[in-house]
Amino acid sequence: MHNQDDGANTETGPQAGSGEVTSARAKRKVQIRSFGCQMNVYDATRMGDLLEKEGYEETASQDDADLVILNTCHIREKASDRVFSELGRLREIKEERAASGASFKIAVAGCVAQAEGAEIRRREPAVDLVVGPQNYHKLGDFLRATDIGRSVVDTEFPIEDKFDHLIAPSPRRLQQRGISAFVTVQEGCDKFCTFCVVPYTRGSEVSRTPENILTEIRQLGSGGVREVTLLGQNVNAYHGEDESGRACSLARLMEKIAAVDGILRVRYMTSHPRDMGEDLIAAHGNLPALMPFLHLPVQSGSDRILAAMNRNHRAADYIELIARLRAVRPDIALSSDFIVGFPGETEQDFRDTVDLCETVTFASTYFFKYSMRPGTPAASLGDQIDEDTKRDRLARLQNVVERQRHAFNSAMVGRTVDVLFEKEGRQPGQISGKSPYLQVVHVDADKSLIGQCHQVEIMAAGTNTLFGRFA
Ligand code: SAH
Ligand code: SF4
Ligand code: F3S
Repeated sequence: MHNQDDGANTETGPQAGSGEVTSARAKRKVQIRSFGCQMNVYDATRMGDLLEKEGYEETASQDDADLVILNTCHIREKASDRVFSELGRLREIKEERAASGASFKIAVAGCVAQAEGAEIRRREPAVDLVVGPQNYHKLGDFLRATDIGRSVVDTEFPIEDKFDHLIAPSPRRLQQRGISAFVTVQEGCDKFCTFCVVPYTRGSEVSRTPENILTEIRQLGSGGVREVTLLGQNVNAYHGEDESGRACSLARLMEKIAAVDGILRVRYMTSHPRDMGEDLIAAHGNLPALMPFLHLPVQSGSDRILAAMNRNHRAADYIELIARLRAVRPDIALSSDFIVGFPGETEQDFRDTVDLCETVTFASTYFFKYSMRPGTPAASLGDQIDEDTKRDRLARLQNVVERQRHAFNSAMVGRTVDVLFEKEGRQPGQISGKSPYLQVVHVDADKSLIGQCHQVEIMAAGTNTLFGRFA
């Protein structure tokens, strides 16, 4: 995903000394390592755009990096803990570099930065900068402060500023966005599911203006992007306002995006069942650019657990919603997130989840063992479920959904679908792209077709991918 082909330039390797910085010096290199969700991937891209203007060039390797940014995720304990082991390794690099007089900076961004703030530097003083997701637009200033030996922690929530300060990507970086790109349109969450840290790490819901989003998507379209996936923690709660003060829903926004030159396909994630408005459901029937795939997490099939999770809907509401979507788009492929072992989950609650899975049938699914998160209401509930039970339920659910995924993919064999080609395949002479249902499809074809959409007949289905030929 990162640049490796920049050819000759004035790069001279890590700069010695603690750094009086001048803009005339050779480019420094930054490695941005993202964990967690797609929004972190998008944020990493935007940080890279901004840092290029600050004289940094992105590198895929920490060995030639002068700055490493860990773009972290706080969603489950494992993700969060990983940050500190990574930081330990980075500290060692910093010490080695210091011994030879070179500087190496460590920054922590993302949701752990937001959640832990100054605590990160207390635990790992080698960290130079801690920056929460709402403050990336200030990265340049922060890095200049670290250049003169200061450390910075900023986890304020001035979210309105952030989208106004997006930097237009350079032509070179624009090209690196590829054929399919993420674009954040909404950030934050007001739902407060009792297990989840996101409302605390990303703050309350904020929508970008349609004009701001369209400006970015026009750039992407002109740079060769053909598909955009609109991102938000709660993307279907999107409520933009256009220049004349008129409300703009996600459905309306997608209509505008579908009209942008070059854009062939639109997707969105992640949605909450409570925010699937009439016009959004209708869009699945009448907006051809909107792909027939929907990631709509349900978390559990038990009403008791759904209530304890503060999901504000019942299993039957979800099933009814799916029926309405299928009424307008019968072939829509569905995906969901599930949590097993939420506090108090009984065997019967778990079976209700399996039943919901059997009733709905999903094309793909993500499932997680409940992880206790400090500060969330569910963490202080009694009746936490033991690890063995969680593991057992996870395996059983996995069995059900794997069968469904396999059936969904196998049923594609013999069908002809539109494939948007995104890149060269693993095998020579092969290119690969995505079906409307987000399946990876490989075809033997010339790479000049990358960026185009073609009808492909599916010949075979592997575990994760489909193989086809031109219809
Ligand atoms: N904003 C998205 C994604 C939230 S995080 C949404 O609303 O769906 C992605 C998934 O992680 C959630 O859907 C949930 O299934 C899972 N998750 C969140 N908190 C968790 C926790 N404490 N333990 C286990 N899984 C969790
Ligand atoms: Fe977390 Fe629930 Fe918000 Fe999703 S809807 S981000 S699970 S609080
Ligand atoms: Fe993780 Fe934050 Fe995304 S907690 S899932 S990086 S919103």
